Amino acid sequence: MPLIDPHKRRIDYLRISVTDRCNLSCVYCKPRTGMKMLSHAEILTYEEILRIVSVAVPLGITRVRVTGGEPLVRRGIVSFITALKQVAGLDDVSLTTNGVLLADMAELLVQAGMPRLNISLDSLVPQKFSRITGSDSWEAVWRGISRAEELGFFPLKLNMVPVKGMNDDEIADFARLTLKRRFHVRFIEFMPIGASDRWSRDACVTSEEARSIIERELGPLAPFSSGHSAGPSSNFQIPGARGVIGFISPITHHFCDACRRLRLTADGKIRPCLLSDTEIDITSPLRAGCDDAELERLLRLSLEIKPERHYLDETPGGRFQRTMSKIGG
Ligand code: GTP
Ligand code: 5AD
Repeated sequence: MPLIDPHKRRIDYLRISVTDRCNLSCVYCKPRTGMKMLSHAEILTYEEILRIVSVAVPLGITRVRVTGGEPLVRRGIVSFITALKQVAGLDDVSLTTNGVLLADMAELLVQAGMPRLNISLDSLVPQKFSRITGSDSWEAVWRGISRAEELGFFPLKLNMVPVKGMNDDEIADFARLTLKRRFHVRFIEFMPIGASDRWSRDACVTSEEARSIIERELGPLAPFSSGHSAGPSSNFQIPGARGVIGFISPITHHFCDACRRLRLTADGKIRPCLLSDTEIDITSPLRAGCDDAELERLLRLSLEIKPERHYLDETPGGRFQRTMSKIGG
C-alpha cells in the first residue's frame, strides 16, 4: 500500500535535514535568542538515514531533498549523496544549500550524481548580504552559483525571501536575473517560523506585491509550466527571458491540499508538516534495534498526524518549537 494520508494526499517526497548547523546566521531564519545545537550523538548517522530511506522507498517515496541547517557543512555529505543516488526507486535526489561552500564542492556533487540544486540568496548586494546573514560570503555564494551553472546543474532554483525594509528593494533585480540566465528565481513569503520573534504580517511581502513590483518594472509576466512540478511554486516568465520566476505563497494561498511531503529532522523525528510541531520519534526505536516493519509502521503513523492544512491564520505569530534552520525549509 502506498503512502496516502487521511486527506487523500499521496506522499512521495521526503525532505531530509542532515544537520541543524549552518554557516550563516540569517536574521529572518534564526531567533534573536540563542539556539541550542544538537550534539553529535543526537544526529542520525548517514547509515540510519539510509535505512529509513530504504524502508520509505518501497512505500512510494520517489523524491528526496537533502537540507540542513546547511547540508554541505556536514562531513561526509558527498558520500552520503552518492549512496542516496544508488537507492533503486529514487527518481529525484536534490539539495537545498546556501551556496557558501558550493564553488569548491559543486564538482564533487556532479560526481555524486546530483542533477539539480536550490540555492538560498537574499541579496545581490554584498554589504546587504552581510547584514542579513552575518557573513561576508556573498562573493563565495555567487562564485558557487556561477560554478553550478557552468557545470550544468538544472534547474538552478534561487530562493529569495523578501522582507520589508530588508531586501524588498531588490525584487525587480532578482527578477531581472532571469532575462539572460536560466535561473528559476523564487520569491517566498516570509513565514512566522525560524525568527518568529522578528516576523510580522507587515514585514511579509506577499507574492501579489512582489509580482506587481516586477510587472511595474519589467512588464506583464506570462504563466509558465514546466510540466512536472509538484512543488509549491506558481511559475511565470518575462516573455523572451531564459529563466523562470516563481512565487511561493504559504501566507496568502496555502498549498496544503497539494502537499506530498514528509520531513525527517536531523535528530530523527518524522515531521509531516513544516508548520506543525507534531512529530514522531524514529531514533529511539531505530537505536533500540527495531525491525523494518516497525519503521514502516511509524512512517504510516506519521500520515495520521499530517494536518489537513497549516493554521497560520489562526495563530498569526506562529509558535513553533523548531526554528527553520532545524527543519531545513
Ligand atoms: P522542489 O520542488 O523539489 O524544487 O522543492 P521546492 O520548490 O519546495 O523548493 P525548496 O525546497 O527550495 O523550498 C522552497 C521554500 O518553499 C522553502 O524554503 C519553504 O520556505 C517553502 N516550502 C517548502 N515546502 C513547504 C511546505 O511543505 N509548506 C510550506 N508552508 N512551505 C514550504
Ligand atoms: N520564511 C520563509 N522562508 C524561509 N526560509 C528560511 N526561513 C524562512 C522563513 N521564515 C527559507 C530560506 C531557504 C529555505 C531553506 O528556507 O530562504 O531558501
